[in-house]
Amino acid sequence: MKQKKSCLKCPVCDSELYPVEAMKLYKCHHNHCFDMAKEDYVNLLLSHEKKSKNPGDSQEMVTSRQSFLSKGFYEPISDEINATVKAYFERVNKCPETFLDLGCGEGYYLKRLIESLDYAETKYYGLDISKSAVKLASRHHKAAQWLVANSFFTPFMTQSLSGILSVFSPIDMGECKRMLDKEGVLIRVFPETNHLMQLKEVIYPEIKVKEYEQYLNDLEGLEIISVKNVAYDITLKNEDLVQLLLMTPHFWRVKEENKEALLKMDTILVTVSVSVGVYQQPRRHFF
Ligand SMILES: C[S@@+](CC[C@H](N)C(=O)[O-])C[C@H]1O[C@@H](n2cnc3c(N)ncnc32)[C@H](O)[C@@H]1O
Ligand SMILES: [Zn+2]
Repeated sequence: MKQKKSCLKCPVCDSELYPVEAMKLYKCHHNHCFDMAKEDYVNLLLSHEKKSKNPGDSQEMVTSRQSFLSKGFYEPISDEINATVKAYFERVNKCPETFLDLGCGEGYYLKRLIESLDYAETKYYGLDISKSAVKLASRHHKAAQWLVANSFFTPFMTQSLSGILSVFSPIDMGECKRMLDKEGVLIRVFPETNHLMQLKEVIYPEIKVKEYEQYLNDLEGLEIISVKNVAYDITLKNEDLVQLLLMTPHFWRVKEENKEALLKMDTILVTVSVSVGVYQQPRRHFF
């Protein structure tokens, strides 16, 4: 029987990579092998694709994010992602064959997406460069294949994915365009200018605002079909605040005295404000 085409790509020779369940490994036609870890994730990151020994978010960042997210503070974002994915595939009238969460962290959004959809045939993947994040994801969520890999050199074949999700993660739009099939969709969640503004006001003497338009202009040949704002306020207790600070890059950028000012606060009201952008391959226009 002919083997079904695989969407995974060998990071060494670029040929298709297949799971060999009995041997708990992935293997390509040229016999490059990648063992599955005991938690069932697979590490496809080659040493020249990483800049440090343990790239990506540290164990501490990952566990802080897991605790923070488990309290439901970002549930409205996750719900909007789920509704957007469902609406897209209803509109194109098909179920996704393959779906990737790029920069998935410890898998909060992908887990909730899988639970909210009833696509029995869809193969789900979560990819992150942080081994700590992928380990945690694969320990708790068995419905997806979790991969340690780099979003900028992804181990996916060209036009092999029906959907890609990216939530607050570094992204190469050109690489997304390459991986998406003709009707594929990219759902990208990025912060609006006022996202977590009250927190930034405490920790930064001067707030450098990342141009919001930058996210809308960074297309690399994809088209934006919609952008929806999700905004609401949350009240954080000191413990939540510490976790939020630890899970973001702010923690590493902030001066010690500014960090301390924030960590002394009992509660703070913070605005969550993000955009959920929907991108697809350009449509062919016939005139
Ligand atoms: C802000 S976190 C977002 C995680 C998750 N999407 C969430 O929102 O809960 C960014 C994630 O991107 C990962 N990351 C950073 N650089 C990466 C790269 N080059 N390739 C893949 N993942 C990367 C980090 O390890 C981290 O898990
Ligand atoms: Zn190979």
